[in-house]
Amino acid sequence: MSAMDDMPTMQEQLPALRCDPSMTSDVDPRSDFPAHDGGGQIPVLDDAVHLWVLDTGADGARAVRTAARSALERLLRQYARGAAFEIETGSHGKPYAPALPWLHFNVSHAGSHVALAFARNQALGVDIEDCSRKLSVDGLAKRFFGATEATALARMAPEGRKAAFLQLWTHKEAVLKALGEGLSFGLDRVEFELGMDGQAGPMCLIASSAGRPGEWQVKRFTPAPGLTGSIAWRGPERALNLFRLPS
Ligand SMILES: CC(C)(COP(=O)(O)OP(=O)(O)OC[C@H]1O[C@@H](n2cnc3c(N)ncnc32)[C@H](O)[C@@H]1OP(=O)(O)O)[C@@H](O)C(=O)NCCC(=O)NCCS
Repeated sequence: MSAMDDMPTMQEQLPALRCDPSMTSDVDPRSDFPAHDGGGQIPVLDDAVHLWVLDTGADGARAVRTAARSALERLLRQYARGAAFEIETGSHGKPYAPALPWLHFNVSHAGSHVALAFARNQALGVDIEDCSRKLSVDGLAKRFFGATEATALARMAPEGRKAAFLQLWTHKEAVLKALGEGLSFGLDRVEFELGMDGQAGPMCLIASSAGRPGEWQVKRFTPAPGLTGSIAWRGPERALNLFRLPS
């Protein structure tokens, strides 16, 4: 929700490859998230990624997290089709269900909104951010982004800089969450191109321990007006199915 407010120290840059750019694209902004009540008729998950958004209507971080957890459990019950499960957390805090090793999921919150992503046999990460929040973009970029990204951002007109920064941020955080390491991986160890129009382009660099950029899929989406989001996985292209869970 506010990882920017609680940053780990920057890590030393490790060996990385610059080649074979990732598949980075935008979810068509005209493609709305159709409403789905999360009941028994969820489409089959094979070879797809399911992305759910929910406006919890809750006020305050704790209430939003509680609503997010209950939505997660509800959807997991549907995907599990009756199998019992508990949610545990990995060493860096990523939740998973040991009894459902085939079912990968990830969650992000921003304001009252929540995004939940699910895939069969494919680890993935999702991040959403509120574009209206106040940010010290230049300082954050200089401190935590790669030098190429920080320079590209600094060259942009001030009015477009925050939106571009948030696109880069959500792309990076989605990748780090797919890896399960979160911010401790180092935001500067994955870099994206930044176009003159402020649109984040393909991943151009990632620490070699996380594969090659060309192995990654990174997609931007708009969970709700005023929010921006990214979803990422290291694996082949999959269909992305969007759903809006009524609050
Ligand atoms: C995960 C992280 C990137 C979240 O950033 P954020 O923008 O503040 O929050 P978001 O709303 O996008 O995501 C939060 C959710 O991500 C999930 N999450 C937590 N840690 C995660 C990780 N390492 N990888 C992937 N997902 C993670 C959780 O579902 C969490 O929600 P919950 O706490 O309500 O269950 C950040 O908190 C982080 O890096 N944590 C790792 C800290 C760490 O390394 N700890 C190790 C010692 S325990």
